[in-house]
Amino acid sequence: MIQGTVGVVARAEVLPNVFLMHLRTPEIAKRAHPGQFIHLACDDASDPLLRRPLSVHRIGRAGVAGAKAGIYSPSDRRESSSVDLWRPAEGEVSVLFARIGKGTTALARSNPGDALSAIGPLGNGFSFDPKARNLLLVAGGLGIAPLVALADEAVEREMVVTLLAGARTESGILPAAALPPEIEYVVCTEDGSHGRQGVVTGAVAEFVDWADQIFVCGPRPMVEALIALRISPTKSAQVALEEHMACGIGACLGCIVQTRRGPQRVCRDGPVFRLGDLR
Ligand SMILES: Cc1cc2nc3c(=O)[nH]c(=O)nc-3n(C[C@H](O)[C@H](O)[C@H](O)COP(=O)(O)OP(=O)(O)OC[C@H]3O[C@@H](n4cnc5c(N)ncnc54)[C@H](O)[C@@H]3O)c2cc1C
Ligand code: FES
Repeated sequence: MIQGTVGVVARAEVLPNVFLMHLRTPEIAKRAHPGQFIHLACDDASDPLLRRPLSVHRIGRAGVAGAKAGIYSPSDRRESSSVDLWRPAEGEVSVLFARIGKGTTALARSNPGDALSAIGPLGNGFSFDPKARNLLLVAGGLGIAPLVALADEAVEREMVVTLLAGARTESGILPAAALPPEIEYVVCTEDGSHGRQGVVTGAVAEFVDWADQIFVCGPRPMVEALIALRISPTKSAQVALEEHMACGIGACLGCIVQTRRGPQRVCRDGPVFRLGDLR
């Protein structure tokens, strides 16, 4: 875990009210795994304690030579013309977030060249079953954020990935260009404005038998609908939770969820849990 300063390299509003930010942080990029998160100070001068958890969306691995742990120097800033909108460069991680309240509103105002205080990578990420080949990823809304890093890593391992992504309407759907081109991308919108009409959980049954492992992130009703499907425990279904959080490091017990293994802290014991363990 690194506590230090990360540099904003790029920030763009990629969907209405949804922001993608590339952060220069070689040490976090070196250590981060899909499903982990970064606790970011949101740069609001009136509230220095304002830290918010955001999933690692994509990881620019390698290239840490000469970088000091967690320290950003203004010379690390890349020209905006050299920034690939969707892919962070080596030594960077990206985050994808909705502007919801005070913290994310402040974060969305950050500009390239700004420095933010960060702690990360935090929590336990997703894990691959060594025997798995076919992966089904199920995303509700911005639950897609951690699943893209997972898809990148699965593609590197030459696994076959289908990503089901759901949103109310097409304005909540990332373009295919935002994803690794090797994966199958199946879109569901509730109003039918893009892809299949209906909720994303409605499409899951079609892929369950094919999948060796299932990875999920999305709003609570979606996770509850997937629990109700009673997916066979042999599928090793894992879910990344996005519960309310305070300290982010396991100290305050402000993020407890009830599981079959007893109460667990989302920030420290999760945020990734076995779907079948959740109550
Ligand atoms: C492990 C983890 C990973 C996350 N990853 C992402 C991500 O990649 N992209 C993304 O858009 N969002 C993500 N979230 C949710 C994100 O942290 C909240 O949207 C954000 O904290 C809201 O802060 P705010 O100040 O803008 O909103 P406010 O509503 O003003 O926040 C007030 C308080 O409520 C809490 N809160 C409000 N909504 C949520 C929520 N949905 N989940 C958790 N806490 C909430 C905040 O922590 C804060 O303490 C993640 C949450 C967790 C726990
Ligand atoms: S947020 Fe403090 S224990 Fe999890």
